[in-house]
Amino acid sequence: MYDARIFNSSNEIASFVNVNEKKVKILLNSQIIPCVTTGGEHRKRYYTTELLIDYAYRNIINKYSLDDNISYKEAFLQKELNKEILKSFASHRCQVITVTNQKGGVGKTTNTINIAVALAKLGQKVLIVDMDSQAQSSRYFKKVSYKNRSILSIFEQFKLNNDIEKSYIKDKIVTFSNFENESYSLDILPSEIKLAKMLELMRMSNRPDTILDKILNYIKEDYDYIIIDTPPYSGLSLEMSLFASDKVLLVSEADEFSVEGLEVTIQEINELNKNLSKKIEIDGIFVNAFSKHHNYANDALDDIVDILLDKLNLDENSLFIVKYSPSIIRSSQSVQQSIIDYKVKVKESLSLFEPMLKYAIKLILEQKKSNHTRD
Ligand SMILES: Nc1ncnc2c1ncn2[C@@H]1O[C@H](COP(=O)(O)OP(=O)(O)O)[C@@H](O)[C@H]1O
Ligand SMILES: [Mg+2]
Repeated sequence: MYDARIFNSSNEIASFVNVNEKKVKILLNSQIIPCVTTGGEHRKRYYTTELLIDYAYRNIINKYSLDDNISYKEAFLQKELNKEILKSFASHRCQVITVTNQKGGVGKTTNTINIAVALAKLGQKVLIVDMDSQAQSSRYFKKVSYKNRSILSIFEQFKLNNDIEKSYIKDKIVTFSNFENESYSLDILPSEIKLAKMLELMRMSNRPDTILDKILNYIKEDYDYIIIDTPPYSGLSLEMSLFASDKVLLVSEADEFSVEGLEVTIQEINELNKNLSKKIEIDGIFVNAFSKHHNYANDALDDIVDILLDKLNLDENSLFIVKYSPSIIRSSQSVQQSIIDYKVKVKESLSLFEPMLKYAIKLILEQKKSNHTRD
């Protein structure tokens, strides 16, 4: 079995997850971390990887009780332990996820960024690939220099040589680091307005839909997750992204037109799957900017749930509802920060961030399961 392990002491756990032993000891002594006890005269306590993961998972979820006293820092990953546990279970196999809906303005970029931040805060190595020539996700974070860096030049180079060097790709990637509170960093492969034109030219290449996959294959070893933000239309950009992906995350608003966009997107993925040797899995639906006070939104949500259950064979654990919250979203965007780093209204930003965090945890846990079945 993959890295399932038994730990006999705090020392062993501490060195496995790379955390100060004192911290681990406190948690063990207070029995916050569950243990297995042997029966008999010489009772012995021990801990398993399974129990540790479970602990980290529950701890993160429980931190969302959101009572008024909870501080930002407490509410997120208290101490480094959760993060380190989850990090030590990183799969060493990169997953590529495309975030899409062929309708624009439904929250693809906002959710891409915030899911990436959630994963990064959970200790995962994340790259955001911007395949939208509008370059919204490229420009999301402040203090990052994008000079001479864009996926466009990678495509140009690839077109020239029909191949590319890893170092050339790495050179175009921008790192965003946030050292406040729970520090994290993530990488971005930016886009620019000329990308759309470039992609038109690339149509002439041999199997142009496979090019992004080939490019990402060079750098997958450096990441746990690569998340691709896509433009709001069907075309080579989306085809390339889907071909490169293991999973697709759909984003929709709860209104009739966005739901239509969802259906078209699902149809396109089904078509694509017919011609592929691997199967691109639709992983879940984010319903963005949802307000329960509108009847039309509730009706559309019912339709989305039907799609989820009937068309995608997923259950409601794969539905993530993000509340309509224009003030926080806009103010965080205006200072170029993720929702969770925008701390003006702690409680609200936490509750708004919760679906992103839940999705991130779901990804990590599924990864763990798939490792189990593979080995
Ligand atoms: N939960 C939300 N509540 C209110 N407004 C939102 C929410 N999420 C996103 N928005 C706003 O909706 C607009 C479109 O979001 P964006 O993520 O850019 O969509 P897309 O990438 O699908 O075009 C942006 O102006 C953003 O500020
Ligand atoms: Mg966008």
